[in-house]
Amino acid sequence: MELTGKHIVLGVTGGIAAYKSAEVVSRLRHLGADVHVIMTRNATEFVTPLTFRTLTANPVVTDTFAEPEEWNVEHVALAKLADIFVIAPATANILAKMANGFADDMLSTTVLATKAPVLVAPAMNTGMWTAKATQQNVSVLKNRGVLFAGPESGMLACGDEGKGRMSEPADIVRKIQEILGRTEDLAGKKLLVTAGSTRERLDPVRFLTNDSSGKMGFAIAEAARDRGAEVTLVKGNTTAPVPDGVRIIEIESARDLLDVMKKEAPKQDIVIQAAAVADYRPAACAKTKIKKKDGEPMVIRLTENPDIAKTIGEKKKASQVFVGFAAETDHVAAHAQEKLIKKNLDMIVANDVTKPGAGFNTDTNIVTLITKEGSEALPIMSKREVADAILDRIIG
Ligand code: PMT
Repeated sequence: MELTGKHIVLGVTGGIAAYKSAEVVSRLRHLGADVHVIMTRNATEFVTPLTFRTLTANPVVTDTFAEPEEWNVEHVALAKLADIFVIAPATANILAKMANGFADDMLSTTVLATKAPVLVAPAMNTGMWTAKATQQNVSVLKNRGVLFAGPESGMLACGDEGKGRMSEPADIVRKIQEILGRTEDLAGKKLLVTAGSTRERLDPVRFLTNDSSGKMGFAIAEAARDRGAEVTLVKGNTTAPVPDGVRIIEIESARDLLDVMKKEAPKQDIVIQAAAVADYRPAACAKTKIKKKDGEPMVIRLTENPDIAKTIGEKKKASQVFVGFAAETDHVAAHAQEKLIKKNLDMIVANDVTKPGAGFNTDTNIVTLITKEGSEALPIMSKREVADAILDRIIG
């Protein structure tokens, strides 16, 4: 893929792999990209700004103040200009700063401000990479949609052997091409995603619900937004931070959700139903708080909720793609297959919610994508990665 007309901002942090970033730049330039480099003070100890200025034909932004003429590029301007923001090599330090929203130098400030997709290529000693703090930061960043190239395993500059080598420049460039190819692949598409739990009222202060945090549905909304879709997010009760840049419709109960979906689903190209919807609700909702009756058992009668996916599935147009989720605890594939057919879905994403790292209120999920043509079991991934895998599959 040619990169002519694409603006790529490359952050270089202080590590021995910084010399490999020169090759990343030169490959990007050969593909026609306009590359702007921001170097941390430590990076300038490994490679000079002049190297990158010569390769990019653009001023290099540094924190050294050594060459004032380098500062004519304002950082927020670069954050806005970027079609993709790449940090290679990315040290444990920059990952920690990004995970915590620090903005104490040009690079961390600019990456915090950008709305472009962010790709990092970590490079560090194995002990630093596997440290709990780094892994926690990586997990936070992945869930926020930051993409990773590597690190790879091998002999490290410090003499240790293990994971921590920066990916090869050719692989980093391939990943950049893949991401830039993706950023537009849902342009012009309308996508609706449901997220969170429903609440089924028993009285003014009590309700029946479940553990859904909204993380899975939100990850789909963010991934679709980043790939150019016009996203509508229909959300029940959630605990995760709500994505920006998407249209939000709030619902409380399954019946509210049905009303919204009947109106909204016909307008969409793609509908993905990740919300955990109650199959039953209390047969009656008391007007006042139900009083305790000492010693007597409390019996609550439940009545079945409408099946929203099935209702909208009956009116699905040939041009539309409808995807459901199946939260299962046993006979996962069989139950999911049944729902695929019954609800007239094009794909069902089955998750065994009893598995550690899968299902409710986790940052990761373990899913199987099931269509009428077959199924694909995916390894444990961040919910954002699962979201992109689902979208990749829909686009085909
Ligand atoms: O939000 P998180 O904490 O990240 O958790 C993610 C998740 C576990 C909620 C998500 O991965 C998931 O599995 N969502 C579907 C939960 C669910 O309701 O599964 P189900 O097997 O009961 O329903 C199958 C499908 O029918 C779902 O798409 C559901 O939205 C839909 N449904 C269910 C019941 C109902 N009355 N109407 C429906 O439309």
